[in-house]
Amino acid sequence: MLRDSLPNVTGPLPGAQSKLWLERCARALPHAILSDYPIVIKRGAGAMIEDMDGNRFLDFTGGTGVLNVGHCNRDVVRAIQEQSEQYLHSMMAVVTHPAYIRCIERMNEIVPVRGAEKQTMLVNSGAESIENAVKIAKAYTRRPNVIVFSGAYHGRTSLTMAMTAKKSYALGMGPFPDGVFRADFPNLYRKPAGMTDDDAILFYLHRLEELFLEGTPPESTAAIVVEPVQGEGGIVPAPLAWVKAVRALCDMHGILLVADEVQCGFARSGRMFVSDYWEEAGCAPDILACAKSFAGGLPLGAVTAGRHIMDAVPHGVIGGTFSGNAVACAAACQVIDLIQREKLTCRATELATMVHRGLAPLYESTQQVGDIRGCGSMIGVEFVTDRASKAPNPNLVNTIISIAVSKGLLLMRAGARGNVIRFLYPLTITDLQMEAGLSIFREAVAQAVGGEMQV
Ligand SMILES: Cc1ncc(COP(=O)(O)O)c(C=O)c1O
Repeated sequence: MLRDSLPNVTGPLPGAQSKLWLERCARALPHAILSDYPIVIKRGAGAMIEDMDGNRFLDFTGGTGVLNVGHCNRDVVRAIQEQSEQYLHSMMAVVTHPAYIRCIERMNEIVPVRGAEKQTMLVNSGAESIENAVKIAKAYTRRPNVIVFSGAYHGRTSLTMAMTAKKSYALGMGPFPDGVFRADFPNLYRKPAGMTDDDAILFYLHRLEELFLEGTPPESTAAIVVEPVQGEGGIVPAPLAWVKAVRALCDMHGILLVADEVQCGFARSGRMFVSDYWEEAGCAPDILACAKSFAGGLPLGAVTAGRHIMDAVPHGVIGGTFSGNAVACAAACQVIDLIQREKLTCRATELATMVHRGLAPLYESTQQVGDIRGCGSMIGVEFVTDRASKAPNPNLVNTIISIAVSKGLLLMRAGARGNVIRFLYPLTITDLQMEAGLSIFREAVAQAVGGEMQV
């Protein structure tokens, strides 16, 4: 069965059938969206993908963090089938539909935002969830600006392109919406030389407060939007001490703290949301935006906040035709049930231990492995030319990825300079599959580093 199988690539990639599809794709699809991987999926199950030629790949990308419960999870597929036989669509602003209500009730139970009474609105994607979180924050505070961070990724709509740090995602797309100000994210691996972590946290807080003087005064700032663990930015967790201080700044100035959990949400961190750790530390966000793994592979996002905040939004300002699609809502309820029933938060922690144990020898033996970090099963390996200079090594990452793919392990890069490999494997991966994946990863790194030394 594909679900329990191990990686197996039988010939050069792409195989003959995949090649035909890739040629059709190159003709029909704008090159701006083309993949540089030689894989065309025929079917997926659990942590595995089978391509058009029968090659089997272990998917450490999980559809870029969408498949925490795995490809074609059986319970999710069943929920989709059952809902499809009832109704497919109803626009919530016209005909109220129960699948939406069931879904937001579950979210209001589990999302750790401030407020005794919580409310949730549904959208179709991560970018939309961020757009709406900002709209809600503006409506509540009646202020125009938001603060975002270096390394941030929030999406590719007009506003979220402005909020995203890496401008190669927005080439030629300006002018962008006004009112977006950027502070330095507390990336402790790349902190100023000679500083302790504690000093660096104070340094980054000071830089943030300077933005109040030189960018957006607090009384003009609606929200500070933080990825609790930066994904695209290179798997960089926000240190809890920094979050606490940012929370205190928000409280002092009446600014809302928004957690972008689009990539890190839904059990990957070892908790349902990273904001659960924040809540325990007394610094829960005011608004939480999520998407990706929410509906197990169907498009769905959500914004959750206290009712007092949601009440400030005028009727008609948020929502959309497809927002909260019935089938996606049914899938999402099943994903939440599954995470709880199968204790996938514990599994995320268990898998993270396996990964860190499996990668420790690599760190010992390989100068080019600069840092291994993350939160639960959201793990990044940063590659450098050497540990002293920490100079980013994106070429090595590209070589590792192509060697790994040729051996049946699908990996993905991250980081402003493309020098981080991120692990976002389905949390339903088996122990045997994880061992196989780590072993291919170690081989690919050794081979790529060996090749680099010969050049
Ligand atoms: C943290 C974060 N926010 C927002 C987005 C945008 O999500 P989407 O691609 O669904 O619009 C992403 C996507 O990678 C993300 O990682």
